[in-house]
Amino acid sequence: MAENIKNQARVVLGIETSCDETGVALYDPALGIIAEALHSQAAQHGLYGGVVPEIAARDHLRRLLPMVKNILLSAQCTPKDLQGIAYTRGPGLIGALMVGTSFARSLAYAWNLPCLGVHHLEAHLLAAQLEADAPDPPFLSLLVSGGHTMLVVVEAIGCYRILGQSLDDAAGEAFDKAAKILGLGYPGGPVLARLAEQGNPQRFHFPRPMVAKKGLDFSFSGLKTSLWNTVRKLGELNQQTRADLAASFECAIIDTLVIKALRAQEVTGLKNLVVAGGVAANRNLRKQLSATNPGIQVSFPDVRWCTDNGAMVAHAGYHRINAGQKDDSLAIDPLARWRLDHVMPLAGLPSILAQDA
Ligand SMILES: Nc1ncnc2c1ncn2[C@@H]1O[C@H](COP(=O)(O)OP(=O)(O)OP(=O)(O)O)[C@@H](O)[C@H]1O
Ligand SMILES: [Mg+2]
Repeated sequence: MAENIKNQARVVLGIETSCDETGVALYDPALGIIAEALHSQAAQHGLYGGVVPEIAARDHLRRLLPMVKNILLSAQCTPKDLQGIAYTRGPGLIGALMVGTSFARSLAYAWNLPCLGVHHLEAHLLAAQLEADAPDPPFLSLLVSGGHTMLVVVEAIGCYRILGQSLDDAAGEAFDKAAKILGLGYPGGPVLARLAEQGNPQRFHFPRPMVAKKGLDFSFSGLKTSLWNTVRKLGELNQQTRADLAASFECAIIDTLVIKALRAQEVTGLKNLVVAGGVAANRNLRKQLSATNPGIQVSFPDVRWCTDNGAMVAHAGYHRINAGQKDDSLAIDPLARWRLDHVMPLAGLPSILAQDA
């Protein structure tokens, strides 16, 4: 690593443990992500068909210290090169968050560094900023992850206006449940998307939920029921039918997301749309959103930073720690639930939300 980094102590260590990925990374504002490591627990949870919170927490505990040691070594960083430690404070599984929070706070205490709890969705929303051509706020964001589907105006870092969100299942959750119905295992989204590439999206017609209704909310649970009913009627599924079902289901989700994103664009007049969260890795969603309207500039994070990772936490944490924010008590206080529009604005920002935060 360059000598000047060592002199300026500007690197931020990011720690993500909100669900079933242990992610750690080092973000340098001049160089970007200089080291990262990610461990997915998918194989362990796959045996049970979904995330088992206790297994998740224990595995984070086992992995964190060696992973952090490895990235510091690979970037030739020491604690002296760090300006702070950022960790995911919430929302997420409370046991998993407790491990990451305790670990980050203890390390920061031992190394005498500022430590800051970051909102997991803010980290997702800002992940596209790790790319060179990302737009500056204000921009419109479509956040599509395993637990959330939201249209958000990012007025500035720390200043988020939610235009609409899922009333039930999130888009990623719908992909996962559909994959389960089709017998594709866990986690299902990427597997279903791969299978959909061999299928005919026109063969089955699934509803595009809530597109006929005004507004920008989503609802995907009826879509899943519709797939379940179709599968029941079909009986035994051959591989082609499975692929056609996957393609038709994916098409219904993507159409719905595209229609609502364009509607939000019309309402706000914002020309930049940033897509974030695990479902932003979906190739057809990327293709269709980019193709829809030449007047809109669509950006995505690198695919490796769509699903949970430490890089997005280090990056989001950097903006706040660099602005002087830090946890002001030693209490370990993760939040299983935490509204995105209740996060602290960045110091000095004319936040439209500061009044009711
Ligand atoms: N290529 C893909 N196509 C569709 N869905 C995908 C793809 N890749 C990942 N996903 C979905 O993304 C989700 C995981 O994303 P992410 O890690 O952002 O969610 P999460 O952290 O579990 O939820 P949240 O961020 O809301 O707390 C899963 O539901 C997964 O199925
Ligand atoms: Mg996530």
